[in-house]
Amino acid sequence: MTRTTGDSAAVQTLRWKDGRLEMIDQRVLPERFEYRPYRNAVEVADGIRSMVVRGAPAIGCAAAYGVALEARARQGESPDAFFVALDRGFAALAASRPTAVNLFWALARMRAVCDARRAQVPASIADALLQEAHEISAEDVRINRAMGAHGAALLADGARVLTHCNAGALATAGHGTALGVIRSACEAGKRISVVADETRPFLQGARLTAWEMVQEQIPVTLITDNMAGHLMSRGEIDAVVVGTDRVAANGDVANKIGTYMVAVLAQRHGIPFYVACPLSTIDRELADGTAIPIEERAADEVTGFRECLWAAKGVMVRNPAFDVTPAELVTALITEKGVVMKPGREAIARLFGA
Ligand code: MRU
Repeated sequence: MTRTTGDSAAVQTLRWKDGRLEMIDQRVLPERFEYRPYRNAVEVADGIRSMVVRGAPAIGCAAAYGVALEARARQGESPDAFFVALDRGFAALAASRPTAVNLFWALARMRAVCDARRAQVPASIADALLQEAHEISAEDVRINRAMGAHGAALLADGARVLTHCNAGALATAGHGTALGVIRSACEAGKRISVVADETRPFLQGARLTAWEMVQEQIPVTLITDNMAGHLMSRGEIDAVVVGTDRVAANGDVANKIGTYMVAVLAQRHGIPFYVACPLSTIDRELADGTAIPIEERAADEVTGFRECLWAAKGVMVRNPAFDVTPAELVTALITEKGVVMKPGREAIARLFGA
């Protein structure tokens, strides 16, 4: 019998070891499973930009550790030099990737710790920053488990769940958001099977989601992105669950490029479209999704993969890494505070007690 434990504990996307940060290099999965070490903010910013670590919550956790590392590396310097270095670290991290708001949310938390202790010696500020980075990571796992428990109730026993990109343990400090919902449903004894979109061009679905599910023996079927509509039209998908990088105040959802297409198809076929969304991913300062900054990545992600080039040289390329799904296509947001059906401006404000 297939064992579906939903146990992602083996996947420690980020870990603190011997006074430095180590992150799984997600660029080389699934061929190789290896950690890379990080010693300061600029190195972590580079790890985020180059996709060693990716996924909105994981980027936030990495950025928090980036600040803590910079503080520890500079704690022997004068207060003036320490704060100048720290500000440069914050700026490098903030410039690493634009779309996932968790990055800026985590940096704001680190900035608040720093500001509250400005009169203290650098070494004690550095200690407090490291504690805050640990807390952001630990909190992320707790939040994902809470979302998982709320979201699992939405999935029927036997559900075939389509997901896009990777919103799993690898995209977070553990358990995952969209895959966390699936894991929690499996832990609750439901027989869930996953259909993973390969997620062109960076292949997070084929390389990362498929790998995570195979590790845990949760049944997973890989499809190319253009097969989703066909499977839906044949009645082979019961629900869609995805993660998100930023949700605007009106409920519009930015997520990996191709998510919008899946949401339109889901509505056409009467399939619920769920978004697993920690509150740290909601940007209440943006009125709607048109204001969400969409990262454009390098052309070579579209023209080939690693050493293999498949497009004609000289062709023009677009590579927006995210798209925006209008709130009207979202059946529900799954948050750590509960499930928000038909999310809109008022329902989102209520989540924050407004
Ligand atoms: O470009 P990526 O791999 O960072 O994009 C990741 C996604 O779009 C995820 O779906 C999103 O960050 C949610 S992760 C819990």
